[in-house]
Amino acid sequence: MQQVKAVVARRKGQPVEVATINVPSPGPGEAVVKVQACGVCHTDLHYREGGINDEFPFLLGHEAAGVVEAIGPEVTSVKPGDFVILNWRAVCGRCRACNRGEPWYCFATHNATQKMTLADGPDAGAELSPALGIGAFAEKTLVAAGQCTPVDPLARPAAVGLLGCGVMAGLGAAINTGGATRGKSVAVIGCGGVGVASVAGAALAGASPIIAVDIDANKLAKAQEMGATHLVDSSRVDPVEAIRAIARQAQPGADGADVVIEAVGRPETWQQAFYARDLAGTVVLVGVPTPDMKVPDLPLIDVFGRGGALKSSWYGDCLPSRDFPMLVDLYLQGRLDLDGFVTEEIKLDEVEQAFARMHDGDVLRSVVIF
Ligand code: APR
Ligand code: ZN
Ligand code: ZN
Repeated sequence: MQQVKAVVARRKGQPVEVATINVPSPGPGEAVVKVQACGVCHTDLHYREGGINDEFPFLLGHEAAGVVEAIGPEVTSVKPGDFVILNWRAVCGRCRACNRGEPWYCFATHNATQKMTLADGPDAGAELSPALGIGAFAEKTLVAAGQCTPVDPLARPAAVGLLGCGVMAGLGAAINTGGATRGKSVAVIGCGGVGVASVAGAALAGASPIIAVDIDANKLAKAQEMGATHLVDSSRVDPVEAIRAIARQAQPGADGADVVIEAVGRPETWQQAFYARDLAGTVVLVGVPTPDMKVPDLPLIDVFGRGGALKSSWYGDCLPSRDFPMLVDLYLQGRLDLDGFVTEEIKLDEVEQAFARMHDGDVLRSVVIF
């Protein structure tokens, strides 16, 4: 057991605070990781607002890279000193999804068995719920060894840690779920951190044209830096018509993009994606809707008549052990600009301010550096 500083959300809707927490020594199948960098994601804010569940207090943070400090018994996949990206999908290898060769749908992902606890305040001793089973706004955190994916230690922690959540979700939505590739057109509706990562994924895959849609000009400028070939400001023009026109220019006869990625998480933008897909095209929902949102009331004939696939993408349908090392290598070769996602490096006690800045047009990611 050791004590470290960490950012916790003690009560629903209250500002987060830096507290001292107890981190147990790793038990069987567990590892303690010395965190080097951890990005601030919308999901952390959702936890703080009680939008995910009521299991307060939360230990926030889940887009992280660091170095394995200690491992428990039976751990063979990592060793002390390994540079790792933390993932929230430690696959079991035995469930029916894993058995049929689709481990990114694993039904039995796991986290550390032991609990970290609060070490100070009136609720000292309370068990912490780590965000997405990670909890990396902490100098050290306890995770399942399977949540640690070793990657090339030459990589910058602040940049590659983002593969642990939002950037992987976006890249994977384009490449893994959407099947973006050379010869296909891709449109991305919503160009925040996730959508811009989808643009980068489409570019990495050789897709063209890559049409970025947003209501914020700053976001569109960032999308262009990351590889968008066409920009559509949907506060000014009808995005469905604009996507169709651009796709048709590139591929005569096309009635939309081959792959349309919805990265906002709203019914109206999903409906735009639905109508902006070409015949037999694919719609990917990667933005996270709230539980009260409904599928828009659309003619069934439009589902049938346009064909194709309506998919959702969870964590970019990634397999961390396959995707993280590959993407880190592409980053180190200069073919994937992960540094471009890091807007600012902040300290542990600045997470609350980063939440406030999250919706600024010019912030893709604030990253806590340890
Ligand atoms: N049309 C087009 N773009 C829109 C619209 C709209 N009607 N409304 C919002 N946007 C844009 C915003 O301008 C912003 O650029 O969508 C983007 C959303 O980006 P962020 O708020 O930065 O969110 P991000 O981190 O990218 O995540 C996207 O996935 O993880 C979930 O909760 C997250 O639902 C959110 C989504
Ligand atoms: Zn499984
Ligand atoms: Zn996240």
